[in-house]
Amino acid sequence: MVSRVIPVDPFDLVVFGGTGDLARRKILPALFRRFQAGQMGDSSRVIGAARSDMDAEAYRGFVRAAIEEFDPQAASDSAALEEFLGRLSYVALDAKGTAGWDKLAGEVSAGRIRAFYFSVGPGLFGDLAQRLHDYGMADHDSRIVVEKPFGRDLASARALNRGLAQHFQEHQIYRIDHYLGKETVQNLMAVRFGNMLFEPLWNSQYVDHIQITVAESVGVGGRGDYYDRAGAMRDMMQNHLMQLLCLIAMEPPAKFDPDAVRDEKLKVIRALDPVAPDNVVRGQYQAEGDKPDYCTQVENPDSRTESFVALKAHISNWRWAGTPFYLRTGKRLKDRASEIAVVFKEAPHSIFGAGAGRHRNILTIKLQPNEGIELGVTIKEPGPGGMRLIDVPLDMTFAEALGPDSADFPDAYERLIMDVIRGNQTLFMRGDEVEAAWAWTDPIIEGWEERSEAPQPYASGSAGPDDSLMLMHRDGRRWREIKP
Ligand code: BG6
Repeated sequence: MVSRVIPVDPFDLVVFGGTGDLARRKILPALFRRFQAGQMGDSSRVIGAARSDMDAEAYRGFVRAAIEEFDPQAASDSAALEEFLGRLSYVALDAKGTAGWDKLAGEVSAGRIRAFYFSVGPGLFGDLAQRLHDYGMADHDSRIVVEKPFGRDLASARALNRGLAQHFQEHQIYRIDHYLGKETVQNLMAVRFGNMLFEPLWNSQYVDHIQITVAESVGVGGRGDYYDRAGAMRDMMQNHLMQLLCLIAMEPPAKFDPDAVRDEKLKVIRALDPVAPDNVVRGQYQAEGDKPDYCTQVENPDSRTESFVALKAHISNWRWAGTPFYLRTGKRLKDRASEIAVVFKEAPHSIFGAGAGRHRNILTIKLQPNEGIELGVTIKEPGPGGMRLIDVPLDMTFAEALGPDSADFPDAYERLIMDVIRGNQTLFMRGDEVEAAWAWTDPIIEGWEERSEAPQPYASGSAGPDDSLMLMHRDGRRWREIKP
């Protein structure tokens, strides 16, 4: 399979927080890979900006080390790496003051695409937008990219939106949810709206329930400080899982264009019922061997923050009334495995009698790892001995179906940054979407706080707390196994 690379127009990309963790791990390696792929035209440049006092040469050394650490394979192409480093420069600046801003304004060229990546905490978004305006870099063609977390509740998200809107219009603001840049997440839309097969069955008449699992085997690592103030609900559910829910549940947009897609996603969020307390389960991981428990890891012995959350959601519209959506996400679970499973209802009447057992089709979209799509179908078990039914998967692992190169997906950040340069907002969250997601999440979190609810402990390497299993069992259903 030959991938098509369409070079983008020349650009200057400024990465605020250019020495930060996200820049090192994701943004800079992603830019290098796009450069290697020939997508970054001859004169495009990347400008790191941060507080540290260093010159361009030192920054290039920093970026080289980052790419060597986080993508050693790409970095082994040393000629390309040197050429890419030649496109980098650096400006030391004070986001809240005036130091460095004149220099930055002199570095970015007018008359070409100018993008500003805010890879910093939300507390600096407003300051950066203001300075870009003050120093003449906020013209109608410049764009800003903002990372999550986009606020910590509806009020703070609104304040951020208002701050950015003072100097940038909505079409210039790219709110990143990196899950939308994942290849299989985009494939969700292709599967749903590119095939006739599924859409007629995609409703509560035929779908028993939908499960969305985003499981991680790692703990909170070195991000304890941030994570303990956020928790799984704010860190994952309000954004990544909510976006997956939208893509799986939305009506077909009239076309694949940014506002048509985002209008439909917004309708899903607004149609979500409030979640009753007994439909949410929170958990916190325990120690395992030499791996510390959550509280030790975040250095907060009394922490009540959840590292796991599972809930049952209902969408009140004609398509989905009566079909529950079960969502769960957590850290230190059995495996790193994320999938969406659409579980269809059983056939209304079995002509094979009670002995044939109960069977139903399950369409599984595997997001990571081993990206692919699997459809469970019921067939006759081969051989003599009567009509015995078994369920077998019609399996399409992309790597097998499309060739090994196809498994070499571009990282979500590669796709998303190039979309910013192209000016395509389809895979970015609109301001009203983010606010609606917080409006749904806020009462759940407030309820925990009012009831001083502590999360349930769960064993590291498990499927989460027992109550999350009960969430399904009491409805006569069960979670799918967490496995890659
Ligand atoms: C981030 C969260 O947005 O997504 C992290 O802040 C989480 O806590 C990460 O680990 C998961 O992303 P991925 O791409 O590894 O599934």
